[in-house]
Amino acid sequence: MRKYKLLYLIILIIFMPFSVHGEEQTLTILYTGSLKGELETCGCSPKTDFGGLARLSGYISEHAEELSPYILIDAGNFTPKDTPQGRLKTEAMLRSFSKMKYDAVAFGENEKVFPRNYLYPLVKENKTPVLCAASEKRRSLSITRSDIKLNIGVDPAARHEGNLNLLLSDKPVSEAKLINGWDVIITSSGEELEEPLENNETIIAAGYPKGKNLGILKLRIGINGKVMGHDHRWQPLGKEIKEDPLVRDILNDYDSKVARLLREAERPLAGATYSGVKKCAECHQPFEESWKDTRHAGAFQTLEKAGKSSDPECIKCHSVGFGEKGGFYSIETTPDLANVQCEECHGLDRGHLDDFSKPMRPVTEKVCLKCHTEEHSPDFDYPVYLEKIKH
Ligand code: HEC
Ligand code: HEC
Ligand code: HEC
Ligand code: HEC
Repeated sequence: MRKYKLLYLIILIIFMPFSVHGEEQTLTILYTGSLKGELETCGCSPKTDFGGLARLSGYISEHAEELSPYILIDAGNFTPKDTPQGRLKTEAMLRSFSKMKYDAVAFGENEKVFPRNYLYPLVKENKTPVLCAASEKRRSLSITRSDIKLNIGVDPAARHEGNLNLLLSDKPVSEAKLINGWDVIITSSGEELEEPLENNETIIAAGYPKGKNLGILKLRIGINGKVMGHDHRWQPLGKEIKEDPLVRDILNDYDSKVARLLREAERPLAGATYSGVKKCAECHQPFEESWKDTRHAGAFQTLEKAGKSSDPECIKCHSVGFGEKGGFYSIETTPDLANVQCEECHGLDRGHLDDFSKPMRPVTEKVCLKCHTEEHSPDFDYPVYLEKIKH
């Protein structure tokens, strides 16, 4: 008996590693792509209130255990245009990626617009694991996650035989379909795919535009290291998700830098072009009264509550004439032009003040659509909305 026991033990020891490795393993790819500088949502409508890095990070930390083993990657196009505000966003993006411990971040078309001597010092400072097809040293990187060897690349030629190969691309899905030999391709083309596609042996997915949903692609990997199957789901990043306070700090820091940008660019007013509601009220007091009952009259306060009252990207729709000569500039310099005032709808027409028999421009739906866009006002329905602001 004893002999057999020993034999049994020996057999067990010999075959144990195989039995462990003999099971299918899983690896989850958490992916973003085409964030386009969307640090957080504007909150203009509950219907579009999805996304934002503090929620993204909050979701991942809260669910880290059930998601593990996972890798976190960005397929590129995370930056907006190269403007002073765009640069502040880019910095906040990279700092947040670093807090969230992204495993790889690809540079796509959007990133290539920025000068290298601007971007690379930032990459270094944040220790961002950047991949860039234009840089010889950074075309691929390899990582191991629970025994699975991964090669992540941005150059279709940078495939590693024997590894699990993940390509990050800024090409449209139609072009990604022509690339062979990669297990998974994730694009930042900004296309909305309900489900990843299977093309030959390759799974193709696309980062959700502006990060409204987090992509969760769970791979089942066989003993031979090959992908045996996958599950996919989109995790919506709605406002019920608890924000990561560390990433929130980065976003708040961004907000104060944006405010400083506006303050430092403070320019003298180019003549008082817009009259403002006070002037109109001199002759149209009942209209002022009824306007005050509409939400347009509280539009700037909304921004103050959201801590965004110095953000040009918000002000442009929550005030009058922002960006135009003599329009709203900041609450310190042009307090009388805060909120969506008369002249946003009736037009800028100084002639009317000299000769009020001259009609102002008719108010049409087009006037509203400047601000009531699909993204910021998905419920907009002209007759219904018009009824609510009648005055
Ligand atoms: C393109 C124009 C536009 C821009 C840009 C814009 N908003 Fe709005 N916002 C609107 C409109 C229109 C509404 C009303 C939507 C509705 O109810 O249909 C709104 C509503 C809101 C509301 C909801 C108010 C409430 O009481 O329900 C918040 C909060 C808000 N905006 C914040 C912001 C912030 C913060 C930014 C900048 C990040 C921003 N908005 C940028 C047009 C805009
Ligand atoms: C300059 C940008 C701008 C223009 C032009 C504009 N709006 Fe608005 N509108 C807003 C903003 C911003 C809000 C949200 C204000 C808030 O609550 O902070 C809003 C809110 C509203 C609301 C309240 C929504 C609700 O659900 O109660 C109605 C109704 C509305 N607008 C109708 C109109 C109509 C009709 C027009 C065109 C005749 C128009 N707006 C033109 C920016 C604009
Ligand atoms: C959100 C857009 C909007 C804002 C803001 C707005 N109005 Fe109007 N106003 C309208 C619309 C729409 C009408 C009715 C349709 C029309 O006459 O074109 C109207 C009608 C009027 C009329 C009457 C026109 C007539 O033919 O009898 C006056 C006067 C007027 N508004 C003045 C004001 C004043 C003053 C303010 C600021 C306190 C103001 N409006 C703010 C959209 C707006
Ligand atoms: C000095 C007085 C006065 C001021 C200031 C004034 N209005 Fe008027 N407005 C009038 C009078 C009077 C009428 C009526 C004219 C008529 O019916 O022939 C009128 C008519 C209007 C009408 C409707 C008639 C039309 O043909 O469009 C609108 C809209 C309007 N004003 C908007 C404004 C706005 C917006 C302001 C502020 C920028 C403003 N008004 C400032 C006196 C004034």
